[in-house]
Amino acid sequence: MLELNEIRAGYGPTLVLHGVTLPVARVVAVLGHNGAGKSTLLRVAIGLIKPRSGQVVFDGEDVTSLPPNKRVARGMAYVPQGQQSFPQLTTMENLQLVADGRKRGKSLIEQQLSRFPALEKFATRKAGLLSGGQRQQLAIARALITEPKMLILDEPTEGIQPTIVAEIEHTVMQLASEGLSVLLVEQHIGFALEAAEKYLVLASGFAASTGDGGASAAEGVREAMAI
Ligand SMILES: Nc1ncnc2c1ncn2[C@@H]1O[C@H](COP(=O)(O)OP(=O)(O)O)[C@@H](O)[C@H]1O
Ligand SMILES: [Mg+2]
Repeated sequence: MLELNEIRAGYGPTLVLHGVTLPVARVVAVLGHNGAGKSTLLRVAIGLIKPRSGQVVFDGEDVTSLPPNKRVARGMAYVPQGQQSFPQLTTMENLQLVADGRKRGKSLIEQQLSRFPALEKFATRKAGLLSGGQRQQLAIARALITEPKMLILDEPTEGIQPTIVAEIEHTVMQLASEGLSVLLVEQHIGFALEAAEKYLVLASGFAASTGDGGASAAEGVREAMAI
């Protein structure tokens, strides 16, 4: 499991996170308005940003000074905001890029193609021509090929057709039920709280509220977000 303790971090001289501690649980949701610092917190978690102070601990090991690739090797996987993949490469080529050099690479790709039938159907289509939902599935599939213990997801349902949002939500719930740890940033409060054991509301880089997930938490979350 992941611990983020008293994280102070930002860009250049600008401090964005002012001493943020993440609640510890297998599935944690981070909520908050645009600009609150959610993506910044995830970048600190995976190691793209080094915090000015504070600690990142994964499975009991202090990984604060490890680069992202070493964190991935220890079982963390990160899906950034915006369904990123290589648009000029096909679905299959995008998966192969991650699978290459892995012992079980071929079977890992097959696993993901059976998890995401749309990716199997469009295996030879360029990623740039997939729908937003399919690109998000491809991004998650790429992360899963690294056989992570923990998945860090930044707004997986953002910019996706409402009819497909439920599919992405189902995937996230399914992965959590398979035992994967999940750190999820989401705008859909209902879904985030349904999925999460614990939540954190960020407001202007401060922890405005934390608590247990579940539908009954929604009112407290909305209050904290109104600040
Ligand atoms: N690469 C960057 N360089 C400088 N400032 C950034 C960068 N990314 C985000 N910020 C700033 O950090 C703050 C928090 O942004 P972000 O973590 O993306 O918030 P959220 O994900 O909650 O919308 C914002 O004020 C944003 O303008
Ligand atoms: Mg963001």
